[in-house]
Amino acid sequence: MKITYQRFESADAEELVGLLSGDTWPFHGSELVDPAAVRQRIEESGYDDQDNRAFWIIVAGQRAGFVRLTDLRDETPLFDLRIRSGYRGRGLGGQALAWLTGYLFTEFPGVRRIEGTTRQDNVAMRRAFLRSGYAKEAHYRDAWPASDGRVHDAVGYAILRRDWLSGTTTAPDWDDERLL
Ligand SMILES: CC(C)(COP(=O)(O)OP(=O)(O)OC[C@H]1O[C@@H](n2cnc3c(N)ncnc32)[C@H](O)[C@@H]1OP(=O)(O)O)[C@@H](O)C(=O)NCCC(=O)NCCS
Repeated sequence: MKITYQRFESADAEELVGLLSGDTWPFHGSELVDPAAVRQRIEESGYDDQDNRAFWIIVAGQRAGFVRLTDLRDETPLFDLRIRSGYRGRGLGGQALAWLTGYLFTEFPGVRRIEGTTRQDNVAMRRAFLRSGYAKEAHYRDAWPASDGRVHDAVGYAILRRDWLSGTTTAPDWDDERLL
């Protein structure tokens, strides 16, 4: 499956509002996106300025997903990756994560690591992290309240530039309390 990535432009505003508010996002803090909030973020250049860039994920000419890269002036940028529900589970998210990882390390020489946090039960996102060489760095218990009133654990992953360059994944030193 050939995937291409197209930079978001303000002329695409209403299409982005449609993608984000016309679907459900089960593993986000809020499953539904408020169209007014998207329009406001577009007006404030929140998808394309010094700190943010965004891209459509395109398959067979269709805009199948969207990725927003944030904190781009930081040594540790973040991202928000969303695949439309009809396209999930077909390999797009995993490939998009690998792409955005390479993009960030290539375009921004000051980036030392890339971080992502997700809900513990977001299996697809967690598997994508592992396949792209990210290591689990954090486990936050009862940190993610869901809209149905349940509270989930959150998990944090990151990839280091040096690991990305060498094609390895170094694990954190979890046993460091032996030194205390
Ligand atoms: C999370 C998300 C980006 C993953 O993208 P995707 O295209 O659905 O996932 P892929 O098809 O690339 O699959 C990635 C891995 O998860 C596995 N997987 C996919 N869907 C799965 C599911 N429903 N249950 C369990 N495993 C699943 C795949 O087999 C693959 O594993 P592998 O690499 O070990 O073979 C996408 O589902 C999505 O946008 N979800 C809603 C928004 C979201 O949760 N974003 C992330 C917020 S941090």
